[in-house]
Amino acid sequence: MMKDAIAILDFGSQYAQLIARKVREAQVYCELFPWDAAAEQVLKLEPKGFILSGGPASVYEPGAPFVPAYVLQSGLPILGICYGMQALAYALGGAVKPSQEHEYGPAEIETLHENPLIQPGYQRVWMSHGDRIETPPEGFAVLGRSANSPVAFIGDLERQYYGLQFHPEVHHTPSGAEILRRFVIEICGASPEWTPDSIIADSLERIRRQVGSENVLSAVSGGVDSSVATALVQKAMGCQLAAVFVDTGMLRQGEAAQVRQVLQEQLGIELICVEAESRFLEALRGVTAPEEKRRIIGELFIRIFEEQARQLSLPRFLVQGTIYPDVVESSAPERAKAERIKTHHNVGGLPADMSFELVEPLRYLFKDEVRLVGEALGLPHSMVWRQPFPGPGLGVRCLGEVTAERLERLRQADAILRAELEVAGLLRMDARGEQVAGTAQAFAVLLPVQSVGVMGDKRTYNEVIALRAVTTEDFMTADWARLPAELLARISNRIVNEVAGVNRVVYDITSKPPATIEWE
Ligand code: XMP
Repeated sequence: MMKDAIAILDFGSQYAQLIARKVREAQVYCELFPWDAAAEQVLKLEPKGFILSGGPASVYEPGAPFVPAYVLQSGLPILGICYGMQALAYALGGAVKPSQEHEYGPAEIETLHENPLIQPGYQRVWMSHGDRIETPPEGFAVLGRSANSPVAFIGDLERQYYGLQFHPEVHHTPSGAEILRRFVIEICGASPEWTPDSIIADSLERIRRQVGSENVLSAVSGGVDSSVATALVQKAMGCQLAAVFVDTGMLRQGEAAQVRQVLQEQLGIELICVEAESRFLEALRGVTAPEEKRRIIGELFIRIFEEQARQLSLPRFLVQGTIYPDVVESSAPERAKAERIKTHHNVGGLPADMSFELVEPLRYLFKDEVRLVGEALGLPHSMVWRQPFPGPGLGVRCLGEVTAERLERLRQADAILRAELEVAGLLRMDARGEQVAGTAQAFAVLLPVQSVGVMGDKRTYNEVIALRAVTTEDFMTADWARLPAELLARISNRIVNEVAGVNRVVYDITSKPPATIEWE
């Protein structure tokens, strides 16, 4: 079934994915394309309208990105944001000039005239631009202004073309979600049909069409994506699916048991559980370098999965939990790609010499959507809304050598931290990607350091637990969470009293940058 959709052209904005998420939150399907994607590729979506993102260029620079002709010829509504607005104005004969004052940060715009996008009056918005529009193109009216941008909002109500100098997609523009909702639903006329139930119905149909009567294999790591992808394929294919869960021993307290309980008992998935903690510990013996740990854990996971897969006489299909940001990032414009800093190694890459056809049911979903789909499929809230966790798990939070004893120490301390945060209501478990009170990520780290303490009149010489709790929007930058002192005191007390081998607890008060979120 083809759904109403919006095409977003990415001109290299840091916020392009945010635009897409906001449109999806309005329950309208959309896809992101590089601005110079082939017309057929974009038009295949049969979009009801276009959104042009911001970007770092200036329209009059040689080689600057421009609005493709097929967009202007489509007769469909267009919303240009920041650079997208300037490119639209420039393409239609308006004048864009570098501005003396660069405007970056909060601003107020005044909407002057009735229009379908923004009600007249004042709005708080987020600006981030250098150039500005001097003269709008013919047919356009200046609909709004700010102190530094006399032309902050333009529109051609006949052709349904709009331009915003500010960013409606960021949460610093409080009415931004409503502006985007009005554009896609009221102006483009898209129906709000993109709901977890319709996403599931669509996915089931796609999976069935792809797999037919063949068998499918899945590798479950304990993470949200592989669990939700596996649950979806189970719902589509039932007994044609076999899933292998490699328990590395590096998961948090209670997680391995939860995977088994939910996937096997509750959802009835044929789950082959491999208890592999001792093999992982053996492979990690004496290893302290974090990159080496990552490599060993990733490789062994694949080797064990491969052993199991061969026993199942290698089905043709393999389920993979690829999500939309991975897809977008690998096809983003070169400049945007270069500015993205981080790549991750996740446990569970493909065995090099095994050729599977991939089934990727989450390929078009953002993380929040994966979580909502997971819940709609019956996975528990505590499983789908948990905080991010590195692929190699506790292995990289146990600094120094990873031993069974040290892992257990770390697991217990981490469980205490999370339990106390949960009681205090500070574990961020919901909200669709918006920052809410509390922590975006909180965990314990075991340091390879011993120090002297005194317990019950006795000298101790034990290890140190570091607590890390951060607030962040995107995990690229982060600030340390200002947890209440009383709460930190309770956590510290509980850890030194309840976890054998720990006599000191410290709290990490560094932001990212210069530090990172994980320690390793
Ligand atoms: P850093 O430590 O670089 O981490 O500030 C940023 C975010 O990435 C998570 N992280 C990972 N996520 N596989 C993942 O899926 C990994 O290998 C991995 N390593 C770090 C980290 O927990 C934080 O949320």
